Amino acid sequence: MKITVFGSGYVGLVTGACLADVGNDVVCVDVDRDKIEKLRDGIVPIYEPGLGAMIETNRVGGNLDFTTDAARGVAHGNILFIAVGTPPDEDGSADLRYVMAVAQTIGIHMGEYKLIVNKSTVPVGTADAVESEIKKQLMARNQSIDFDVCSNPEFLKEGAAIDDFTKATRIVIGAETAQALELMRELYAPYNRNHDKIIAMDIRSAELTKYAANAMLATKISLMNELANIAERIGADIEHVRIGIGSDPRIGYHFIYPGCGYGGSCFPKDIRALTRSAASLGLDAGVLAAVELVNENQKQNLFAKVSDAFSGNLAGKTIAVWGLAFKPNTDDMREAPSRTLMDSLWAAGARVRAFDPKAMEECSRIYGDRADLVLCETAIDALHGSDALVICTEWKAFRTVEPSLFTHTLAHPIVIDGRNIYEPSRMRSAGIVYYSIGRQT
Ligand code: UGA
Repeated sequence: MKITVFGSGYVGLVTGACLADVGNDVVCVDVDRDKIEKLRDGIVPIYEPGLGAMIETNRVGGNLDFTTDAARGVAHGNILFIAVGTPPDEDGSADLRYVMAVAQTIGIHMGEYKLIVNKSTVPVGTADAVESEIKKQLMARNQSIDFDVCSNPEFLKEGAAIDDFTKATRIVIGAETAQALELMRELYAPYNRNHDKIIAMDIRSAELTKYAANAMLATKISLMNELANIAERIGADIEHVRIGIGSDPRIGYHFIYPGCGYGGSCFPKDIRALTRSAASLGLDAGVLAAVELVNENQKQNLFAKVSDAFSGNLAGKTIAVWGLAFKPNTDDMREAPSRTLMDSLWAAGARVRAFDPKAMEECSRIYGDRADLVLCETAIDALHGSDALVICTEWKAFRTVEPSLFTHTLAHPIVIDGRNIYEPSRMRSAGIVYYSIGRQT
């Protein structure tokens, strides 16, 4: 099939590469000339396991191309994906400017039937708005060309996006014509072989399904973080509690790890956008508002622990930070707990020696040169000359270090672990003052 994907960000690139990889003829369109030129040269702007190799194979194979020419993009695909960003507006609601610009472009250039697929996370009702915009452009051209709009939300996790696309647990399709649903079934057939994963529904329900999934997941995390804070003060261990409740199949073990708060481009943005949508409907989304508030407080938790360890006197101290990305296997630092921590440390007059296996370039892009930030070559390098260590991301490599490493390198044997990756008793017996989340110091 001929496919065009508008938006060569995270979702667009994964969608384009995976669809090309099963033999479709895919063109990815983006307004960012520099990004497109790099992609044409085989340079992938984000780190995602397996994505670079997949793009390269299909680019060289001739079934994946990149362009800034939107008219060419519209002409190319029978199916046109909209996968552009929906950044938060000032009030937290999703900014649909880029989605609507693509809809306008499609309306201006289309010359035959197209199926337009909303892949971006968009508020309920956006498919209708896209349809109206295309109709408006067609009317302005005195054209009556048939088209369909459908919603096909993505459920990709950064770091596992290729697997999530190719081995999806579900493929949600909001479609309101038989033709649209049939085309989507055909498109996803290579990924839908063993049992039918397609869940077809009306468009508005599909749009809400995406927000509902992220709202449910973020709620699990905030509730666990709240319980962790209670456990810590009440003399309990949240890790025992986690296993105790996870054994109930109605609760389950997944996604109930306490930590230093959720980050990334999705949960924070989607929770805020859904809260805004509810408010605009006259509804008070109390649970969602609490989920966000608990998360904001949790992101401050690490700083509170560092401050506690040094009796509030952080001026002139140097703190090692392990893990800058919002989670492992990505270089994405959007809304990462590490950023909240570093901002607070700097405000308190401390210096930071930081290390992350993948996010060093991103960190330097965000913060540039500053005297109170040293970007270290290795995790061990970050410890030398530091007074204490804070762990913000649970990268695998951090899990296997010997406690003696900390006592030999840090000026004070203080480790503040925002992801509960070490056993407290082991750290204590090595002489380390060990803070974690929801467990006893
Ligand atoms: C999330 C969803 O998991 C995907 O299903 C969804 O498609 C995606 O958002 C999106 O809307 O595009 P992602 O942002 O890549 O995916 O990251 P997650 O793996 O969900 O992690 C989000 C945050 O929650 C991270 O900061 C992570 O550290 C934190 N987390 C996760 C916890 O604190 N505890 C957990 O038990 C799980």
